[in-house]
Amino acid sequence: MSELLKKDREYVWHPFTQMQTVDAPLEIIKAEGTLLHTADGKSYIDCNSSWWVNVHGHGHPHIAQAINKQFSTIDHVIFAGATHPKAVELAERVIHLLPENQFHKVFFSDDGSTAVEVALKMVFQYWFNIAQPRKRILALDGGYHGDTFGAMAIGQRGYFNRPFEHFFFDVDQLAFPTSINEVQLLQQAEELFQTNEFAALIVEPLIQGSAGMRTYSSQWLDQLVNLARKYEVLVIFDEVMTAWGRTGKLFAMNHCNSSPDVVCLSKGLTGGVLPLGLTVTTNTIYNAFLSEEKTKALLHGHSFTGNALACAAACASIDLFEQEETWKKIDRICQEHKLFAEQITNYSNVHEVRICGTILAIELKTPNGNSYFSDIRDKAYRYFLEKGLLIRPLGNVIFINPPYSITSEELKTVYQVILDFLKII
Ligand SMILES: Cc1ncc(COP(=O)(O)O)c(C=O)c1O
Repeated sequence: MSELLKKDREYVWHPFTQMQTVDAPLEIIKAEGTLLHTADGKSYIDCNSSWWVNVHGHGHPHIAQAINKQFSTIDHVIFAGATHPKAVELAERVIHLLPENQFHKVFFSDDGSTAVEVALKMVFQYWFNIAQPRKRILALDGGYHGDTFGAMAIGQRGYFNRPFEHFFFDVDQLAFPTSINEVQLLQQAEELFQTNEFAALIVEPLIQGSAGMRTYSSQWLDQLVNLARKYEVLVIFDEVMTAWGRTGKLFAMNHCNSSPDVVCLSKGLTGGVLPLGLTVTTNTIYNAFLSEEKTKALLHGHSFTGNALACAAACASIDLFEQEETWKKIDRICQEHKLFAEQITNYSNVHEVRICGTILAIELKTPNGNSYFSDIRDKAYRYFLEKGLLIRPLGNVIFINPPYSITSEELKTVYQVILDFLKII
């Protein structure tokens, strides 16, 4: 074991990891484009974009330059009672990228979970401030919105959060929509909304990430959002995973005819190189916080709110999304995924192949069900590592959501290794 790995074992506690039984981590010495290089001289294709964040490839020179330039003027400044050009530039650009005239104000935080926490506080306090306290939230079964308490409360309950469950506030959950239950779910949602007790509806639009890249129709989502509108229930789209080209368009909501009142952004926002969360909303919500009374303000903030380096990285990432080249890469990945999906759909051990833009998910048939801890998950993870792919399956769901820098050749390698794996299981 290398010195670094020994020290890692001695001093570091890794996320989502059973430290007693886990294999030694990869010792990454360089991240470059789509590749991660390790100390033992191997290279891995970063098939899941390093926890779904990296969109343009590692070490992109345009983002590197923007961060360096920013550091030479403002590194970080307090964001209450002070502002700076990059935060304002980012807020303005995000507002103009989102569907026209729908969004007006941007609140900064640090990551996906905090972007969701802020969204929850915004909607609960909105109703509080206008003296109509609505306290219930409707979420979709299987949702994942982060690991802070509010975000856990509205997400899927189970082995990930059982020790904390008795601290969570009550949340109503709608079953995951399929072609069989769609109509019934809308009726159920309407009955709930009719109580006038619902502060908000929250969804991961079009695709639930952590639940196993489960997709559902934009038409159904439109109908659900329209119902929420009818009963003045606020709508939150958690686009932490789906934004920044992942679904083939800049935002998942660009596939819909409706749009939410609040949108949560993070992950690919900075190109995936620095932590940053945004909660974007409308003037209707914002105006409910304006008052002579200080307590009506959104009394929430983090030390690193509006961090200038992260804002510079995000603006540079947006520059790249303004280039046609980026969209050509995204379209190519979408097309290549489709061709590969056709090839494997009828494999006997494949339960379902799902595609949503640049995300390709293969749900395997397994005797022991779809558990995050299913045996096939570890077998697949190790097999892919051996073959030079970093893929972290979600239980029995193998999926790839690569940086858009991935070449056709690299994608072919990834597909071939997956094919080989399907043949040996
Ligand atoms: C849809 C969604 N929301 C929120 C989060 C939480 O983001 P973070 O891990 O940055 O706190 C995630 C993370 O995977 C996510 O997929």
